Amino acid sequence: MALPNGVLSSHDLLDAQAHVWNHIFNFINSMSLKCALQLSIPDIIHKHGKPITFSQLIDTLAINKLKSASIYRLMRILIHSKFFIKVKIAETDEKGYWLTPASRLLLRNDPLSVAPFALAMLDPILVDPWHDVSEWFQNDSPTPFVNTHRRAFWELAGDEPRMNQFFNEGMASDARLVSGVLVRDYKNVFEGLKSMVDVGGGTGTVAKLIGDAFPGLKCVVLDLPHVVDGLEGSENLTFVGGDMFESIPSADSVFMKWILHDWSDEECVKILKNCKEAIPNKENGGKVIIVDIIVNDEKEEHEIVETQLFYDMLMMTLVTGRERTEKEWAKLFFFFFFFFFLIIRQNFSLILDLQVIKSLMF
Ligand SMILES: C[S@@+](CC[C@H](N)C(=O)[O-])C[C@H]1O[C@@H](n2cnc3c(N)ncnc32)[C@H](O)[C@@H]1O
Repeated sequence: MALPNGVLSSHDLLDAQAHVWNHIFNFINSMSLKCALQLSIPDIIHKHGKPITFSQLIDTLAINKLKSASIYRLMRILIHSKFFIKVKIAETDEKGYWLTPASRLLLRNDPLSVAPFALAMLDPILVDPWHDVSEWFQNDSPTPFVNTHRRAFWELAGDEPRMNQFFNEGMASDARLVSGVLVRDYKNVFEGLKSMVDVGGGTGTVAKLIGDAFPGLKCVVLDLPHVVDGLEGSENLTFVGGDMFESIPSADSVFMKWILHDWSDEECVKILKNCKEAIPNKENGGKVIIVDIIVNDEKEEHEIVETQLFYDMLMMTLVTGRERTEKEWAKLFFFFFFFFFLIIRQNFSLILDLQVIKSLMF
């Protein structure tokens, strides 16, 4: 609170300073996490099967042992950020490091692991453009990514095999997590469909898992040639290299996860027009299924809103897209009302259908 003369009290001044410092140093959380992943710390603890002491952890880590003491400092900040806990080891007086729900999501061989996603997002190719955001605001570059790398995101992924690999692996790891939820909680969306084209479906993780859950459903994955070249399909899964801005293979339904948020409204309209060409009309069962974030910065709790806003800034920095509010989605779909659209928000608590979109518009 300000004192009567408008000067901040010492308490408020120090609080404000801590707030600023924590924002300056937010990247240290990301980079400490990245370091723990690169050193495989979550996997080492998991493989140990019980809480691991500091000396056991040091013995297992592939590091220069002269730097062992610094591992204590790395673990201390990661305990603070809730990636590990320290617990008493049964029948001893010692304490050991153990996993939390968040670090369980970072185990490499866990089907729900998002470790590849974390490493992809924290790769210098994706992090460097953040240094150029203010410059981008002042020049003609379409994105900060182009400002830094002189090529659009998808173009560089096509030219740099390492980026292509880490990005596709990152997407596949998120797709595994989301597909489980889709086939468990959204069966009704897929039941009865005979064919589905997963537009921008990456290396086919979602299509494979949905195809396995609905054996009568034939899936086609459309993605850029550098993503799908050499991938082998199966009886009910086919890969097609192409460009969704050119055309989309015909099917009963189109599925798009994390596609429209990569693109501006004008670009989305072009994609949606090609979706319209690819599927039958609504009366004949045509359906577009979209999995994306809906921003709700007025109602939701602080942490969820922060995730939504981080993603929005990510789309602004890497590509030409954005995260959209319900109203912005509705506006985008307005001209396509004769189709049935379904949006499943990233945290899966809201389904929008035609009626909801209409009521949001009017
Ligand atoms: C954010 S990723 C989403 C991947 C996947 N749907 C998922 O959620 O795991 C966007 C995908 O769109 C693909 N893509 C980008 N431009 C494309 C285009 N013009 N035609 C087809 N796919 C494209 C990318 O290669 C990438 O696989």
